[in-house]
Amino acid sequence: MESYEPASTRPSRSGLTLETFILEGMLEHPGARGRFTSLLSQLALCSKLITSRVRRAGLADVLGYTGKTNIQGEEVQKLDEEANNTLMRVLSRRGSCAAAASEEEETIRLLSPEPDADYLCVFDPLDGSSNIDVNISIGTIFGILSKKHPGPATEQDFLQPGRELLAAGYVIYGSSTMFVITTGKDVHGFTYDPTVGEFLLSHENIRIPEHGTIYAINESNRERWEPGIRNWVDWIRTGKDGPGRSYTQRWVGTLVADAHRTLLRGGLFTYPDDERNKTGKLRLLYEANPFAMIFEAAGGAATTGRERILDIQPTELHQRVHLALGSKEEIAAYDDFVSGKRED
Ligand code: AHG
Ligand code: MN
Ligand code: MN
Repeated sequence: MESYEPASTRPSRSGLTLETFILEGMLEHPGARGRFTSLLSQLALCSKLITSRVRRAGLADVLGYTGKTNIQGEEVQKLDEEANNTLMRVLSRRGSCAAAASEEEETIRLLSPEPDADYLCVFDPLDGSSNIDVNISIGTIFGILSKKHPGPATEQDFLQPGRELLAAGYVIYGSSTMFVITTGKDVHGFTYDPTVGEFLLSHENIRIPEHGTIYAINESNRERWEPGIRNWVDWIRTGKDGPGRSYTQRWVGTLVADAHRTLLRGGLFTYPDDERNKTGKLRLLYEANPFAMIFEAAGGAATTGRERILDIQPTELHQRVHLALGSKEEIAAYDDFVSGKRED
């Protein structure tokens, strides 16, 4: 005799393609003109194009494609330049993205002159570039803002606090390629299946643990940190808070990889300011803000130790910021040390 499970009230969406997921999001908003949907699917397409290039990165060297031109007579560019060109080219096609700001370009680039191109994109096309040649995970980070003023986009239009982001995401080119995205409510992860050429929903509704035991910081900067950071590291290393609080440390050196691990396992990632990087190293608009949005949507937090990342009013396109991302418990302790409430 066969027995039947009662039908679940909410069937698992595991295995859904990213394209279907994006379209379903549009269907939930009757009246939507499809421009936002179109922009998200363009970003998904860029991820496929970039992952295919990243997966051939080692071969390109072996086959001697690193000179000025390849055998087709095309100029061979560095991967971060190629990723940047891919994003700019694809985003300029469908007329939904008015302009983009990229880590690779000094100023903004106008992409669509149409008056109803009402979105702005910010991105770090290739994050962790120093890890490319040693075969360690790299990534792409992006955010979408709305263009609030008529006429051609200006740099000023991009200087919005992170809480104004409409969507944020990243792609990690790791042991597999994953696309992680939020529109502010939930965070979902899609794993790329190269045999079908699609991103499939593999991590539905990612929630960061309230507490985790991994911390990530580049300790070679220790002598240049302010005392609050040193006190925090001393505390986290010695686990003075009693049992269950023994931490271990990891540092990949690719924000996308360190943040991805932190999102899934909990704990904390930080790149504080120091005497050399006076306002931090990571960029507010296209590194810190997208991750801050993702961490908050997943139930975590993102701060400078003193203030919420998403509340910072940017003043420059490429401004840097002290960035700490993580589980609520670890961020609360971090904030206490940085602000001097705790010294232990
Ligand atoms: P990018 O490759 O986009 O310039 O970013 C590199 C960043 C970030 O990914 C990482 O967290 C950090 O640099 C690592 O810095 P250190 O080499 O100082 O550890
Ligand atoms: Mn980067
Ligand atoms: Mn980069």
